[in-house]
Amino acid sequence: MYNGLVHAHSGLRWLALLLLVGSVIVAISKWQGNGVYTDGNRKLYLFTLISVHLQLVLGLLLYFISPKVNLSLMSDKVYRFYSVEHITGMLIAIILITIGYSRSKRATDSVAKQRLVGIFYGIGLLLILAFIPWPFRNLGAGLF
Ligand code: HEM
Repeated sequence: MYNGLVHAHSGLRWLALLLLVGSVIVAISKWQGNGVYTDGNRKLYLFTLISVHLQLVLGLLLYFISPKVNLSLMSDKVYRFYSVEHITGMLIAIILITIGYSRSKRATDSVAKQRLVGIFYGIGLLLILAFIPWPFRNLGAGLF
Protein backbone atom coordinates (compact mmCIF):
# COMPACT_ATOMS: atom_id res chain seq x y z
CA MET A 1 0.00 0.00 0.00
CA TYR A 2 2.75 2.47 1.01
CA ASN A 3 5.03 1.48 -1.92
CA GLY A 4 2.13 1.68 -4.37
CA LEU A 5 1.26 5.18 -3.18
CA VAL A 6 4.87 6.40 -3.44
CA HIS A 7 5.14 5.08 -7.00
CA ALA A 8 1.79 6.55 -8.03
CA HIS A 9 2.72 9.94 -6.49
CA SER A 10 6.19 9.84 -8.04
CA GLY A 11 5.02 8.75 -11.52
CA LEU A 12 2.04 11.11 -11.65
CA ARG A 13 4.46 14.04 -11.29
CA TRP A 14 5.40 13.54 -14.97
CA LEU A 15 1.80 13.77 -16.16
CA ALA A 16 1.16 16.81 -13.97
CA LEU A 17 4.36 18.51 -15.23
CA LEU A 18 3.54 17.71 -18.87
CA LEU A 19 0.02 19.13 -18.54
CA LEU A 20 1.26 22.19 -16.63
CA VAL A 21 3.98 22.98 -19.19
CA GLY A 22 1.41 22.53 -22.01
CA SER A 23 -1.14 24.77 -20.27
CA VAL A 24 1.39 27.53 -19.56
CA ILE A 25 2.73 27.52 -23.15
CA VAL A 26 -0.78 27.58 -24.67
CA ALA A 27 -2.13 30.21 -22.24
CA ILE A 28 0.82 32.60 -22.54
CA SER A 29 1.03 32.34 -26.33
CA LYS A 30 -2.72 32.95 -26.68
CA TRP A 31 -2.61 35.79 -24.13
CA GLN A 32 0.11 37.44 -26.21
CA GLY A 33 -1.57 36.45 -29.49
CA ASN A 34 -5.21 36.38 -30.62
CA GLY A 35 -6.49 35.27 -27.19
CA VAL A 36 -9.16 32.96 -28.68
CA TYR A 37 -10.41 30.65 -25.90
CA THR A 38 -11.46 27.24 -27.23
CA ASP A 39 -13.14 24.22 -25.67
CA GLY A 40 -9.79 22.43 -26.10
CA ASN A 41 -8.10 25.08 -23.93
CA ARG A 42 -10.76 24.70 -21.25
CA LYS A 43 -10.27 20.91 -21.16
CA LEU A 44 -6.47 21.19 -21.03
CA TYR A 45 -6.64 23.64 -18.09
CA LEU A 46 -9.21 21.42 -16.32
CA PHE A 47 -7.19 18.19 -16.72
CA THR A 48 -4.12 20.04 -15.43
CA LEU A 49 -6.08 21.15 -12.36
CA ILE A 50 -7.32 17.58 -11.80
CA SER A 51 -3.78 16.16 -12.07
CA VAL A 52 -2.41 18.47 -9.35
CA HIS A 53 -5.45 17.81 -7.13
CA LEU A 54 -4.81 14.09 -7.51
CA GLN A 55 -1.20 14.70 -6.39
CA LEU A 56 -2.62 16.57 -3.39
CA VAL A 57 -4.80 13.59 -2.39
CA LEU A 58 -1.96 11.07 -2.81
CA GLY A 59 0.46 13.43 -1.02
CA LEU A 60 -1.90 13.89 1.94
CA LEU A 61 -2.30 10.11 2.31
CA LEU A 62 1.48 9.71 2.16
CA TYR A 63 1.98 12.47 4.70
CA PHE A 64 0.27 10.33 7.35
CA ILE A 65 2.05 7.05 6.61
CA SER A 66 5.48 7.98 5.24
CA PRO A 67 8.51 7.15 7.40
CA LYS A 68 10.11 10.30 5.91
CA VAL A 69 7.64 12.55 7.73
CA ASN A 70 8.55 13.31 11.34
CA LEU A 71 8.00 16.78 12.75
CA SER A 72 10.38 16.23 15.67
CA LEU A 73 13.45 15.60 13.50
CA MET A 74 13.79 19.06 11.96
CA SER A 75 17.58 19.18 12.11
CA ASP A 76 17.74 16.40 9.50
CA LYS A 77 17.34 17.80 5.97
CA VAL A 78 15.38 14.81 4.60
CA TYR A 79 12.76 14.84 7.40
CA ARG A 80 12.55 18.64 7.24
CA PHE A 81 12.06 18.55 3.48
CA TYR A 82 9.14 16.07 3.48
CA SER A 83 7.55 17.20 6.79
CA VAL A 84 7.55 20.95 6.07
CA GLU A 85 9.16 22.24 2.85
CA HIS A 86 7.60 19.86 0.28
CA ILE A 87 4.06 20.07 1.65
CA THR A 88 4.20 23.89 2.09
CA GLY A 89 5.62 24.62 -1.38
CA MET A 90 3.22 22.20 -3.10
CA LEU A 91 0.16 23.43 -1.20
CA ILE A 92 0.90 27.05 -2.20
CA ALA A 93 1.41 25.94 -5.82
CA ILE A 94 -1.85 23.94 -5.89
CA ILE A 95 -3.80 26.82 -4.28
CA LEU A 96 -2.43 29.26 -6.91
CA ILE A 97 -3.35 26.88 -9.75
CA THR A 98 -6.86 26.46 -8.30
CA ILE A 99 -7.31 30.26 -7.99
CA GLY A 100 -6.04 30.70 -11.56
CA TYR A 101 -8.50 28.12 -12.89
CA SER A 102 -11.54 29.53 -11.10
CA ARG A 103 -10.73 33.19 -11.85
CA SER A 104 -10.13 32.30 -15.49
CA LYS A 105 -13.43 30.41 -15.60
CA ARG A 106 -15.33 33.42 -14.22
CA ALA A 107 -13.61 35.98 -16.48
CA THR A 108 -15.72 37.06 -19.45
CA ASP A 109 -12.98 38.41 -21.69
CA SER A 110 -11.07 35.63 -23.52
CA VAL A 111 -7.66 37.37 -23.33
CA ALA A 112 -8.15 37.74 -19.55
CA LYS A 113 -9.02 34.02 -19.32
CA GLN A 114 -5.69 33.11 -20.97
CA ARG A 115 -3.70 35.66 -18.94
CA LEU A 116 -5.02 34.34 -15.60
CA VAL A 117 -4.08 30.75 -16.46
CA GLY A 118 -0.71 31.85 -17.87
CA ILE A 119 0.26 33.75 -14.72
CA PHE A 120 -1.19 31.51 -11.97
CA TYR A 121 -0.29 28.18 -13.59
CA GLY A 122 3.14 29.61 -14.52
CA ILE A 123 3.97 30.53 -10.91
CA GLY A 124 2.53 27.19 -9.74
CA LEU A 125 4.76 25.34 -12.22
CA LEU A 126 7.90 27.14 -10.99
CA LEU A 127 7.04 26.34 -7.37
CA ILE A 128 6.37 22.68 -8.17
CA LEU A 129 9.69 22.40 -10.03
CA ALA A 130 11.46 23.96 -7.03
CA PHE A 131 9.89 21.61 -4.47
CA ILE A 132 10.17 18.26 -6.27
CA PRO A 133 12.76 16.02 -4.54
CA TRP A 134 14.89 15.61 -7.71
CA PRO A 135 17.58 12.88 -7.37
CA PHE A 136 20.43 15.47 -7.47
CA ARG A 137 19.07 16.96 -4.21
CA ASN A 138 19.86 13.69 -2.35
CA LEU A 139 16.49 13.50 -0.60
CA GLY A 140 16.08 9.76 -1.05
CA ALA A 141 13.72 9.95 -4.05
CA GLY A 142 14.00 8.56 -7.57
CA LEU A 143 12.77 9.66 -10.99
CA PHE A 144 9.70 7.36 -11.07
C1 HEM B 1 2.00 18.67 -7.77
C2 HEM B 1 2.32 18.44 -6.51
C3 HEM B 1 3.32 17.40 -6.06
C4 HEM B 1 4.33 16.78 -6.76
C5 HEM B 1 4.73 16.97 -8.22
C6 HEM B 1 4.99 15.87 -5.83
C7 HEM B 1 6.06 15.06 -6.14
C8 HEM B 1 6.68 14.19 -5.27
C9 HEM B 1 7.78 13.33 -5.60
C10 HEM B 1 8.42 13.23 -6.98
C11 HEM B 1 8.11 12.60 -4.49
C12 HEM B 1 9.22 11.54 -4.37
C13 HEM B 1 8.64 10.15 -4.51
C14 HEM B 1 9.76 9.12 -4.52
O1 HEM B 1 10.24 8.76 -3.43
O2 HEM B 1 10.16 8.70 -5.62
C15 HEM B 1 7.22 13.04 -3.44
C16 HEM B 1 7.23 12.54 -2.17
C17 HEM B 1 6.35 12.89 -1.18
N1 HEM B 1 5.31 13.80 -1.30
FE1 HEM B 1 4.86 14.90 -2.93
N2 HEM B 1 4.37 15.97 -4.61
C18 HEM B 1 3.36 16.89 -4.71
C19 HEM B 1 2.50 17.30 -3.71
C20 HEM B 1 2.51 16.80 -2.42
C21 HEM B 1 1.65 17.25 -1.37
C22 HEM B 1 0.60 18.36 -1.50
C23 HEM B 1 1.97 16.50 -0.26
C24 HEM B 1 1.38 16.51 1.11
C25 HEM B 1 0.18 16.92 1.39
C26 HEM B 1 3.03 15.59 -0.62
C27 HEM B 1 3.61 14.68 0.23
C28 HEM B 1 4.67 13.87 -0.08
C29 HEM B 1 5.31 12.96 0.86
C30 HEM B 1 4.91 12.72 2.31
C31 HEM B 1 6.36 12.34 0.16
C32 HEM B 1 7.35 11.28 0.72
C33 HEM B 1 6.89 9.89 0.31
C34 HEM B 1 7.90 8.83 0.75
O3 HEM B 1 8.85 8.55 0.00
O4 HEM B 1 7.73 8.29 1.85
N3 HEM B 1 3.33 15.81 -1.94
N4 HEM B 1 6.36 14.00 -3.93
